Amino acid sequence: MKALTVVPGKAGSARLDDVDDPPASDGPVLVETLAVGVCGTDAEIVSGAYGWAPPGRERLVLGHESLGRVVEAPAGSGFEAGDLVVGIVRRPDPVPCANCAVGEWDFCRNGRYTERGIKEHDGYCSERYRITPDYLVKVDPALGVLGVLLEPASVVAKAWEQVERIGARAHFAPERAVVTGAGPIGLLAALIGVQRGIEVHVIDQVASGLKPDLVAALGATYHTGAIEDACDAPDVVVECTGVGSLVFDAMEHLAPGGVVCLTGVSSGGHSIGVDAGLLNRSMVLENEAVVGSVNANRRHYEAGAAALAKADAGWLGRLVSRRVPLESWSEALDRKPDDVKVVIEVGS
Ligand code: BGC
Repeated sequence: MKALTVVPGKAGSARLDDVDDPPASDGPVLVETLAVGVCGTDAEIVSGAYGWAPPGRERLVLGHESLGRVVEAPAGSGFEAGDLVVGIVRRPDPVPCANCAVGEWDFCRNGRYTERGIKEHDGYCSERYRITPDYLVKVDPALGVLGVLLEPASVVAKAWEQVERIGARAHFAPERAVVTGAGPIGLLAALIGVQRGIEVHVIDQVASGLKPDLVAALGATYHTGAIEDACDAPDVVVECTGVGSLVFDAMEHLAPGGVVCLTGVSSGGHSIGVDAGLLNRSMVLENEAVVGSVNANRRHYEAGAAALAKADAGWLGRLVSRRVPLESWSEALDRKPDDVKVVIEVGS
């Protein structure tokens, strides 16, 4: 079968390969892949900066944002042929650590987790894959191909859950939130904020085009300037760019008792001047919290699926701004100015 593979650590090594069918040992559910979303992590893997091949192998099958259709599933598995499904990305570490042992693999404590399409486990960008039912999530058939947005939605659902759990240390009824970055993660974070009845402000660099339109269509407000100009003392900031200076701006302008949730992965190597004493002072005196959030467990996939099911399908459809057939996969990784979510069509 065809699969998009890469040698992790080696730039320019991605190619469309012929690989063996998935082994039965991968799990009893056989899924045909319909679509795979492309994100910054895939671009990093293809550039040689991230990713790990499965042990003893040179190449990794890419793809961690997926949508597939069940071809065969054992009776009693909860799945049947025809179901639209998304495979969960992370697998618990083999020890397992205390968090992986209870299904909170997104909080793995020893770093020995694996991730499909990213870390030591083949991804979903192949014509078929096998999986155990524990790591498969059904999506609303009405979503169709838009179910491919579930993985990024799960990441954002986890971020909001972190915000709410931390906020709940005291009375917490957030009124205003800022989301930095209007990529797929930022826009889905804004969607969930709006669904919670919060006034949402989204900040990005581009002044026109699809992103401002998508934010306005949500009923949120779009800005191109600084956090302090966009919103006075936000209760929540969901940072989705990984730009270091924005992280500190978010901390500086947060409302007392507020929560900053960091979801963007920075590349490192950029130093900025920070008045650490002043920052410490305001964080202590105002009970502020900053939390990092990565990945998602099953609970977050379910929350993400609920958020997508509630969203306007037309809006979600605009989020998928470009679709590329598997044969032209390299075009999917070539970012265009108006790209939001680019999807590789693997099957139909
Ligand atoms: C994925 C996460 C993953 C993270 C780090 C992100 O792109 O969405 O599932 O944990 O990369 O590898």
